[in-house]
Amino acid sequence: MAGDQHTLTSPEEGPLEQSLLPDNATVDGAGRLSVAGVDLLGMAERFGTPLFVYDEEHIRARCRQAVTAWGDGVAYATKAFLCTAMARLAHEEGMCLDVSTGGELHVARAAGVPPERLVLHGNNKSEEELATAVSAGVGRIVVDSFDEIERLRGLVGSGAGGGRHARGSIQILLRVTPGIEAHTHEFVRTGHDDTKFGFSLSAGAAEQAVEELRAVAGLQLVGIHAHIGSQVFRAASFAEEARILGKFAVPLELGELNVGGGLGVPYVAGESAPTMAEWAGAVRAACREVGLPESTRITAEPGRAIVAAAGITLYRVGTIKEIPGVRTFVAVDGGMSDNPRPSLYGSGYEAFLPRATDAHRPLAARVVGKHCESGDVVVGDARLPADLCVGDVLATPVTGAYGYSMASNYNKVPRPAVVFVAEGHARVVVRRETVDDLTRLDG
Ligand code: LLP
Repeated sequence: MAGDQHTLTSPEEGPLEQSLLPDNATVDGAGRLSVAGVDLLGMAERFGTPLFVYDEEHIRARCRQAVTAWGDGVAYATKAFLCTAMARLAHEEGMCLDVSTGGELHVARAAGVPPERLVLHGNNKSEEELATAVSAGVGRIVVDSFDEIERLRGLVGSGAGGGRHARGSIQILLRVTPGIEAHTHEFVRTGHDDTKFGFSLSAGAAEQAVEELRAVAGLQLVGIHAHIGSQVFRAASFAEEARILGKFAVPLELGELNVGGGLGVPYVAGESAPTMAEWAGAVRAACREVGLPESTRITAEPGRAIVAAAGITLYRVGTIKEIPGVRTFVAVDGGMSDNPRPSLYGSGYEAFLPRATDAHRPLAARVVGKHCESGDVVVGDARLPADLCVGDVLATPVTGAYGYSMASNYNKVPRPAVVFVAEGHARVVVRRETVDDLTRLDG
């Protein structure tokens, strides 16, 4: 009986929940993990660690789900993860691309995405960014402030930019703040009134902006936009947003309503989020409720929900420090420079060993990085197999969004490579930085 008790495990000591792995993950009889037919331990050997591995078909499938759920015009929010391969992929799968800076705009254009498939965001777009967007002929500019209206007035008035929009009109979405609190981390919450984004509905700024925009020849106000926050798990929050936006939009007779991004994804066991279809369904129903005509294009711009679960990060374990009565620290060869989310938002992740993906994980440990501060946490409360050892490849799933895109060179750690795997093949889409890259910009 005592033996039986010994084999009992609590749920958190169990194996990794496999729903957190990319769509095309497979585990062989020995517990070894492959993604799209490519062995992860082999990838760590071949490309080095830390390494971002993306299941390409998983991303493609999410893009297609977004297009099916929302229809043409749905945009991938590139801030979640962007490189030229990613931009091309999202475009090939029928998505528009949301770019929020001149830099994201540049990468999307370098990838060959047609400008009319781009939506330009940003709460402080510079004159240069606006002029570039206007002359390139981007599909939509999401106007965020009165200062920006002034800048655009100046641009169209002077004919500067001189580009494809010069004689036509620039299609504008108006970003409004619906004044609701999404249930998510305060740093990624954006729909409330005390925010730097958009025009407030309650204070009347949005109405005034509509008037000002409509008075500028060369600008065509085509729709309303809002974004209530990120990692939102409740479809009801989006429905509430849609009702508020819809009520504002109906009398304006605009053709488009964009609810932004924000659909949450499960990061750890036990979490669940609405599907893309449920998200779109809840928004559409709310729009109909408030009388938005069928002809209005209702759209969105998911980022995280497209790429997060497609990505896994591989690290190499370098040090295991057991402090009796305190905790065990497992240090890996990356950290807050490749995933700042735990230190920024206290975000939780799972950890596992790709050599033993379905193993029980009785060892409670804190996975930390190699940076010079205690906040450098990779997984605060990790569970790992008991036979974990130095040299093991340790993986964190669901790291495809806001990891690489927020990566840094803190402590002059070169940024990792990014590899896409599909149909048994791996291709490097972003090469690993070298130490020479660390001095590349020095004068
Ligand atoms: N549209 C707008 C206007 C946004 O500001 C954002 C995200 C999105 C779309 C995409 O949201 P998503 O679907 O990815 O939730 N660094 C944070 C997330 C910041 C999101 C900022 N805006 C994190 O790591 O959680």
